[in-house]
Amino acid sequence: MLSTKSRILTLLEKNRGKVLSGPFMAKSLKVSRSAVWKSVEELRSDGYVINAVTNRGYSLSKDCDILSAEGLLSQLKTSHITYDKIHIYKCVGSTNLEAKKMAVAGAMQGTVVMAEEQTEGRGRMGRNFYSPKGTGLYMSVILRPQGTEFEAILATPAAAVAVCRVLADTLSIQGSVKWVNDIFVNGLKVCGVLTEAISDLQTKTIESLIIGIGINVSTDHKSFPENINTIAGSLLNTSANTPGVITRNRLAANVLDELFNLILFTKPTDMINEYKRYSFLPGKPITVYQGEKIYDAEALDIDGMGGLIIKKADGSVDTLRSGEVSVRPRSKHAAK
Ligand code: BTN
Repeated sequence: MLSTKSRILTLLEKNRGKVLSGPFMAKSLKVSRSAVWKSVEELRSDGYVINAVTNRGYSLSKDCDILSAEGLLSQLKTSHITYDKIHIYKCVGSTNLEAKKMAVAGAMQGTVVMAEEQTEGRGRMGRNFYSPKGTGLYMSVILRPQGTEFEAILATPAAAVAVCRVLADTLSIQGSVKWVNDIFVNGLKVCGVLTEAISDLQTKTIESLIIGIGINVSTDHKSFPENINTIAGSLLNTSANTPGVITRNRLAANVLDELFNLILFTKPTDMINEYKRYSFLPGKPITVYQGEKIYDAEALDIDGMGGLIIKKADGSVDTLRSGEVSVRPRSKHAAK
């Protein structure tokens, strides 16, 4: 049974910006008016901006952007995520690491971990993901693939497509994907996806996948660390958006809905075709980093499994399934 405070927050989140009278809230939740007042006060002391409109009631400010299970659920359409599967932290090392621990302990598909801040946000290739307080979406979701490796491989491109769809549909922002999982807006990276797998060595199957999605929502460009400030951007800085246009709860809910749609109901070929349409590497000269090996090539296309088809300098064609690439300025030595 949810607490009165939690039920009041749900009501306010579902009616953001609208004024709800104390008696209406009390009646809808079958609690006393003083219980409503007490919960509103508790929520205010948690940082919620709840305006009291004289003689009319309470209203949750449109700009108030605090992560919560109630806020997320009030926007979610998928039935795969329920209240008990949502874990929100004020500050955590890494949501992926927390989700991994939960998956090992048996957490189900649709378990979501989000944090206001990460102190050790993880990126691909052992890098950090800068995750300052309150300005980004740092979210991990547990999937339990039903067997095939194919599903596991396609989870990362599906996450990238989910984010691009939400940017386009909710924020009118055109995102493009740099293989395999970076999302760029106006030439700056605004989102990264880190997929981690827990496998059963005996059966050689993937037991769980942790899809970690990091989006710089309103991070001030000046605050990015020096090593990334020429490549990182945030949604707020790259569009005409103002704070309050979208809360991080809504952004998370929209991304999760798209992700579950893509994974459960979309044909892999359709998803990959969409991924291709968002991808900006094909046709570009690139540098490939594969462990110790670094070489120049040209990106040709994306294959049906989300691999990057490349043409090497000697003319041979190969498909990358892992590793990292960067776009390089065209030079006379580029592969033709
Ligand atoms: C990358 O850019 O290489 C991937 C970045 C992934 C960052 C997200 S934030 C939520 C989740 N928790 C982490 O520690 N990493 C992912």
